[in-house]
Amino acid sequence: MSDFDTIIRGGTVATASDTFQCDVGISGAKIAALGSDLGYAAEIVDAKGKLVLPGGIDSHVHFSQPMAPGIVMADDFASGTRAAAFGGNTLVLPFALQQKGESLREVVKQYHAKADGRCYVDVSFHLIITDTSERVLGQELPALVGDGYTSFKVFMTYEGMALSDLELLNVMAVARETGALVMVHAENFDAIRFLTDRLERAGKTAPQYHATSRPIPVEREATHRAIALAELVDVPVMIVHVSNREAMEEIRRAQIRGLKVYGETCPQYLVLTEKDMQGLNMEGAKYVCSPPPRDEASQQACWEGIQQGVFSLFSSDHCPFRYDDPQGKAFPKGRTSFRWVPNGIPGVDTRLQILFSEGVGKGRITLNEFVAFTSTNHAKTYGLYPKKGTIAVGSDADIVIWDPQQERTISQKLLHGACDYTPYEGFKVKGWPVSTMVRGKFVVRDEKLVGKPGDGVYVSRGKSSFAVSRTR
Ligand code: URP
Ligand code: ZN
Ligand code: ZN
Repeated sequence: MSDFDTIIRGGTVATASDTFQCDVGISGAKIAALGSDLGYAAEIVDAKGKLVLPGGIDSHVHFSQPMAPGIVMADDFASGTRAAAFGGNTLVLPFALQQKGESLREVVKQYHAKADGRCYVDVSFHLIITDTSERVLGQELPALVGDGYTSFKVFMTYEGMALSDLELLNVMAVARETGALVMVHAENFDAIRFLTDRLERAGKTAPQYHATSRPIPVEREATHRAIALAELVDVPVMIVHVSNREAMEEIRRAQIRGLKVYGETCPQYLVLTEKDMQGLNMEGAKYVCSPPPRDEASQQACWEGIQQGVFSLFSSDHCPFRYDDPQGKAFPKGRTSFRWVPNGIPGVDTRLQILFSEGVGKGRITLNEFVAFTSTNHAKTYGLYPKKGTIAVGSDADIVIWDPQQERTISQKLLHGACDYTPYEGFKVKGWPVSTMVRGKFVVRDEKLVGKPGDGVYVSRGKSSFAVSRTR
């Protein structure tokens, strides 16, 4: 008779607060014991020389999102969660995007239909609110928050998605009443339109001008405004995908003033710059995302935001479009400006390696901070903790076995999503995920896919605990 289904033996366990040598006993979907000499198990997994970490939680990904006519997002829930599993993630939070006029409840139903039975890792949904009608804000949204959809994103830019200040306030008021968390894409839509028109008139239409059309003040102003609106309503906000010092400092100032303002940054703002968009022909389109990657000084500022706890989340903003594909990054027929390049880049499968290598490996953050930024803080922020995001008795056995010595050069041929390129091609990292276990079952084992679609399930969420502790 076994004491456990699985024992992960001989590894170094790290959580957001501690690092210790210990075996992990797993029964069914749960962590049942931590210690040594745990007894018998149906399966012993040797983790000697490896790190045993809470599975990555990527709380900002886009899969199967409807796009403008002619454009198709590369990943669906099967390919996107497969890529996530190979990247050491055990749960992802994609967005259920409402288009104007759509019922939110109907949208959520559609996303469940897209995800059900297809996921390799667990999923939960944020909502994207683009229609602020009375039916949506008065009825559907409060009911959905009650049903476990406890976070929603609003956009201050993008045609058909940008909300006016009044609409933002109305959405924030619903969050205040229901205890939900508002995530804000902070860029000034009118300023971007103004700059885009001028660039196009001057014949500056190559992908690199995407960055010129949305410079730092565009993001800084919107960040400031989003925070001011949230302050008026007295509601917490998460400013997502922050790319530079000025926006980071807006968040820091708000935090110093005691406001519940949180920040997220992403790999592209640590290791890419706008120069990457200057590639020949359309190569630059591979890096077009919003806000755009900036310069080395902005990278440094984002590191500071991580090190000083201004940011609590490190997410991928995985938003994949194929490069060599008329439905992807290439200009669609007859459309010849950066304006038409779909915004977003892939990254769900390279997020952990980049932060581990550049952060832990280069002494910028500790291993425990790495766990906090890539897993625990996501669980706390989005109402999943302590079921998810930690290694503790009673928590779900969501675990990544990590080889800290493994040196790799990131390359598309190592990856497992449906995109045909990675913006991090050629980037050298030390540290790589070896095996990924979701609720007690390996999905990836020794870098081979052993799971199947449906191993990942939908997870309903509670309210944000806002217990995101300062990491320094
Ligand atoms: O360019 C980006 N980030 N595209 C994804 C959508 C979003 O704004 O997060
Ligand atoms: Zn966004
Ligand atoms: Zn995004």
